[in-house]
Amino acid sequence: MRLWGRAAAVRRRMLCLWLMLLGLALVMLALSDLLNRDRENGYQNPGPPRRPLQRIPSPPELEVIVDSRDPALELGVDLTPLKSLQEDQLLFVPSTQDTKNPPQRKQNYKVLLPGSVKDITGARSLTHGEMGRAVHLNLGGFQRDMEQTAVHKYGFNEVVSERISLHRKLPEARHPECLEEQYSESLPSASVVICFHDEAWSTLLRTVHSVLDTAPKQYLQEVLLVDDLSQQGHLKTVLSEYVSHLDGVRLIRSTRRLGVGGCRTLGAARAAGEVLVFMDSHCECQKGWLEPLLERVAQDRTKVVSPIMDVIDWQTFQYNATQWPVRGVFDWRLDFHWESNPQLQDKNPEMAVQPVQTPALGGGVMAIDRHFFQSVGVYDPGMLLWGVEQIELSIRVWSCGGSMEVVPCSRVAHLSRRHLPYHFPDQDLLQRNKIRVADTWMDAYRKIFYRRDTLAHFIRQSESPNITERLRLKRSLGCRNFHWFLSTVYPQLYIPQDRSSLSGELYNVGTGSCADYPSGQGLQGGAMSITPCSGTGSQHCDLNSEGEVRWGPMGDLCLDIKGDRVVSSPCPAHRPTSSTLQWKFIKLSGQIVHQQSQLCVEAVKERGLLQSSPQGIRMNLSKGGLFLRQCTHHPRQQWHFEQLVAPKGA
Ligand SMILES: *[C@@H]1O[C@H](CO)[C@@H](O)[C@H](O)[C@H]1NC(C)=O
Ligand SMILES: *[C@@H]1O[C@H](CO)[C@@H](O)[C@H](O)[C@H]1NC(C)=O
Ligand SMILES: *[C@@H]1O[C@H](CO)[C@@H](O)[C@H](O)[C@H]1NC(C)=O
Repeated sequence: MRLWGRAAAVRRRMLCLWLMLLGLALVMLALSDLLNRDRENGYQNPGPPRRPLQRIPSPPELEVIVDSRDPALELGVDLTPLKSLQEDQLLFVPSTQDTKNPPQRKQNYKVLLPGSVKDITGARSLTHGEMGRAVHLNLGGFQRDMEQTAVHKYGFNEVVSERISLHRKLPEARHPECLEEQYSESLPSASVVICFHDEAWSTLLRTVHSVLDTAPKQYLQEVLLVDDLSQQGHLKTVLSEYVSHLDGVRLIRSTRRLGVGGCRTLGAARAAGEVLVFMDSHCECQKGWLEPLLERVAQDRTKVVSPIMDVIDWQTFQYNATQWPVRGVFDWRLDFHWESNPQLQDKNPEMAVQPVQTPALGGGVMAIDRHFFQSVGVYDPGMLLWGVEQIELSIRVWSCGGSMEVVPCSRVAHLSRRHLPYHFPDQDLLQRNKIRVADTWMDAYRKIFYRRDTLAHFIRQSESPNITERLRLKRSLGCRNFHWFLSTVYPQLYIPQDRSSLSGELYNVGTGSCADYPSGQGLQGGAMSITPCSGTGSQHCDLNSEGEVRWGPMGDLCLDIKGDRVVSSPCPAHRPTSSTLQWKFIKLSGQIVHQQSQLCVEAVKERGLLQSSPQGIRMNLSKGGLFLRQCTHHPRQQWHFEQLVAPKGA
């Protein structure tokens, strides 16, 4: 009886627990519904009316490309094969299923018909100021949470993006003289190839609409959307249907992950326009951006051109015009940068409308003749996911008979990201791509790269990239060598000497640490510091025959002094170098002597000092760093150059 009673009590308690859980679930459901509604109503820009997805009138133009070759496998990298597309396969069977089971929407995606587009999204475009206000006024706690989630997911504030019209107009940023420019009547046709992988709905569609809204119909052959195996639900059936209603937009899907280069190559193979315009999937075009690009390519089919890339802020979606002149460069770690070059402007007042040659182009937006793209060898199919494919293309275009320019009367804004929304499945992918560039194109200069990226060096020691095909291409095209590229196309790049025992990490005996330069401030330089030796090549420096100690991946920061502090400052463009920048390394004593003052470099570690004063004992944080001191034989004045990678000739 008591036993039975206990069992019954347990059962009762279980029942209660279940009921509570059920109740909780119901409350959660109701709450989330409420909050969702709240969110939609709270928007400045009222969301589109919820329209049930319609039956697809005719099968949308859609291709699924299956390619069994996998460059990732060739390199022995294990890219987990991703499975999807089950939903997409439904697209080939137009059915009423869609109406009953609309795909789950994580966000309130805007599903529109072309006819109704204007009323829904284009009611008004938010201006700069309005956007800013929208951001600041509407931030409740919940909103902030959502924004944080969105930033985490995409690397930008997708919640703000959703509130902005898909048809917003960018404020005019072109030089007034650009508006007077005349372009030829018969420009070549363009296919705009937009590759995407798990792009947010609003940014992807704003890119597409921005092209449709700004490119003249007579030059726009098509917009080709290429889905690089996206996983997110909104990019499947919903997108296919949306695209099927847009005139001149085609959607291609790949059934395996291609990466940026492979995806663009695939798009190029399906494109019909005379000129290919590769565009990232989060861009907005300035009025009149296409014609100046087409004009340049039409004049010379071996020219590869880019607009000025303006910036959309990842947090506020504000538009920031980039200052002209600007050009694309890369450093000895094979990282790409846009470099603004105001001194160019002074020399030539015509600069405002004149295209400027550039050693490299970023991948954001680029126009290239379709046949030239094919004949110069598309993108390197051995490149994984993304990274340096644009540097590879840049060196190849220049070396194999083409050229590159930034065209100032063309402007396209590109969304900056706080961080990348997805990560490499393998941390070394970027290095592996860089190794391909170094080994294919840089000849003996590749050693300069490997010394500044020791991870790449160690990977290269244990495996070789298969670049057989690329070397064959290089031979058959009769491409010039890297020495030609450096001396003709990019003479501004400092070529390190990396002499044996006068280059490497600068190791201090007294502190057991390495000298380091402030990398955050770009070209400005700043106080030198003493930090743990990284071993990555990031602290590599080079004492050259001029007596300069050069730092940074471009070698453009020079060891300098400011009072008794040792600092880094921009190296002078002209020789001979100033005597305050000259240093001597005395091998026997390990001293680094400042030539002008004959003082020695001493390392001081940052530390707290206990100091007694009338007010009592207090901590005094002494700033660490490098200082000029009378020469002694103290270990803090003893240095040697640690070579992580064998120097030239060794
Ligand atoms: C845009 O410009 C403003 C002022 O010129 C600057 O403070 C801001 O950092 C810029 N934003 C971006 C994303 O570059
Ligand atoms: C390198 O790639 C080519 C084709 O691209 C192939 O024929 C060759 O067998 C590969 N070599 C190695 C060592 O895998
Ligand atoms: C302690 O700090 C004061 C000012 O904050 C500074 O003038 C002084 O030089 C410091 N002393 C040491 C030993 O660093």
